Amino acid sequence: MLTPSYLVNEKFDDRYFDVVNALDEAQQIHFRNNDLLERIASANRAGKPFVIGETGFGTGRIAVALMEYIKMSSLRDVAIEYYSVELYPISPSRMLAILDGFRDRVGAEIDALVDAYQGIDTSIPGWHSLHLRQPFGTIEVKLWIGEALEMVEALEKPCDVWFLDGHGPKKNPSIWRPELLLAVGQRTIAGGTCSTFTVASAVRNALMAAGFTLKRHPGCGGKKEVLQGLK
Ligand SMILES: C[S@@+](CC[C@H](N)C(=O)[O-])C[C@H]1O[C@@H](n2cnc3c(N)ncnc32)[C@H](O)[C@@H]1O
Repeated sequence: MLTPSYLVNEKFDDRYFDVVNALDEAQQIHFRNNDLLERIASANRAGKPFVIGETGFGTGRIAVALMEYIKMSSLRDVAIEYYSVELYPISPSRMLAILDGFRDRVGAEIDALVDAYQGIDTSIPGWHSLHLRQPFGTIEVKLWIGEALEMVEALEKPCDVWFLDGHGPKKNPSIWRPELLLAVGQRTIAGGTCSTFTVASAVRNALMAAGFTLKRHPGCGGKKEVLQGLK
C-alpha cells in the first residue's frame, strides 16, 4: 500500500505512525505494557499528578489515543502532566488532516487537541501549554519546541513513564543517542518505565546504560516485538 505523502515526515523520510493501527498500537506499546491505568490511579490517589514524558510529539497521536484510552476506563478526576517535544512542529491544519482518519473513533479528542494546538505559537522555542480538559479529568500537555535533549534537561521533575517515539533509529539516530537516553533515565523515577516500538540493539544498549531493565513484549502493526524498560 502506498503511504499518503502527508503521513511522511519529510525531515526524516519516515511516517509519523503506522497508518492502520496507530491508536491500538499506542494502547499496546505505551499504555498496556506500562500498566498505565493502575499507575495513573495510584499516583492520583496519592494526590500527585501522573507524569508522562514523550520524545517526538509529531501529530499528537499518542495524546489522542491516551484521551480515548482513559475515557473508556473507569478512571475519573484524572490529573496527568504530559511533557513532550517537537523539533519540527507541523501546522494545525496538517495535524487535523492526519488525525482525521481516526475521526469516527476519536473525533472529540482530535478536536480538543487541535483546538489547543492552534492556540500556541510553534515558531517560539521552549515550553508551550496545551490544556486538555476532558470528562475524565485533565491532561496538561507541556510541549517543548526544540531539540529533545534540551527538553529533557529543562524538566523540573522526573517522569513516571516515557513514551519513546521519535522515528526509527536508522532514519533518526539522533533521538536514540546514548547521551539523550541517559538524560531520560536520569529524569525517570525509581520504578518508572519507558516503552518503544523498536528493539534495535543500539537502543537497547543505550537504555540499559541509562538504568533500565528491559523486557520484550509481543509487537503489533507489523512489528514482531516491542520494548519496555523498568528503572
Ligand atoms: C514518529 S514521529 C511522531 C510520533 C508522535 N508520537 C505521533 O504519534 O504523531 C517522531 C517525531 O519526533 C520529532 N523529532 C525527531 N527528532 C527530534 C529531536 N531530536 N528532537 C525533537 N523532536 C524530534 C519528529 O519531527 C517527529 O515529529
